[in-house]
Amino acid sequence: MTVLVTGATGTLGRRVVDRLRREGRTVRALTRTPGGRTGLPGDVEVVGGDLTEPRTLTAALDGVSAVHLLGATGHDHAPLRTGPEIMAMATAAGVRRLTVLAPDEGGELEHAVRAGGVEWTFDWPIDLMPNALGWADAIRATAEVREPYAARRTASADEADVAEVIAALLARGGHAGRRLVVTGPEALSPADKVAALAAATGRELRFTELTDDQARRQWRAEGLPEEGIAFMLHMWATVPASVAEVTTTVEDVLGRPPRSFARWASDHADAFRA
Ligand SMILES: NC(=O)c1ccc[n+]([C@@H]2O[C@H](COP(=O)([O-])OP(=O)(O)OC[C@H]3O[C@@H](n4cnc5c(N)ncnc54)[C@H](OP(=O)(O)O)[C@@H]3O)[C@@H](O)[C@H]2O)c1
Repeated sequence: MTVLVTGATGTLGRRVVDRLRREGRTVRALTRTPGGRTGLPGDVEVVGGDLTEPRTLTAALDGVSAVHLLGATGHDHAPLRTGPEIMAMATAAGVRRLTVLAPDEGGELEHAVRAGGVEWTFDWPIDLMPNALGWADAIRATAEVREPYAARRTASADEADVAEVIAALLARGGHAGRRLVVTGPEALSPADKVAALAAATGRELRFTELTDDQARRQWRAEGLPEEGIAFMLHMWATVPASVAEVTTTVEDVLGRPPRSFARWASDHADAFRA
């Protein structure tokens, strides 16, 4: 059983590759730049292709029986518009099992997956714990995190848990036809996370809440594009309460509780040390 992993060079995808290899599967990795250094293990076949241009995916899909499909590319998590073409190609290639990393969108991608005649599961983490690495420079330099919307709480998931769930579904099946939201064991605010990082590093760290205007000024000074600033402020101002909901997905699929942010912080403490 060869499994095609898309997004295989990313934070989450390389973990999926790793877990599938541990499950004894042959893994093929998709990247848009196959000539570059992927850092993937030597026994992983690296194949070129771009999910936004389905005609480039023929070689990648040849002979695979399962696919982990990145259903949303880009920072805005916009669903792939090429879902129908990709599903038609996957079905023709004999793919039998599919995990789709995409939010609940009810659009073209979802319709195509449902109609594709393969065993599918949608998997979506509300928020990945490694997003906290975006604070690493500031914490190392100033021991402070400065952000707006301090009250927002998210049930962030450890990327290793998300990858293990995806690999288990691809390798062993189960939970077919379901949408699974993968979370950690608790919903935390940014200040809670900074406190966990302080405990993990043994450093005194501070969280300071900014107004929208202060955040705009800070992010401009850091060189963020206006479009990115507007997106972040809009996203945090309109974040739905559901992002704080803890799910039982990790326990249901893996038979063990999800890893906590405190554990993630301890695993990654070096990135936050001065
Ligand atoms: N960060 C979060 O909190 C969060 C929350 C929910 C969902 N997600 C989803 O999780 C996904 C993976 O996250 P991550 O942190 O692992 O991402 P990442 O480290 O930024 O990696 C992105 C991956 O997507 C691939 N990719 C991007 N556009 C592509 C395209 N057009 N065709 C083929 N491959 C493409 C890249 O491959 P190459 O550059 O090698 O081509 C790379 O492997 C994201 O796409 C996002 O939708 C993230």
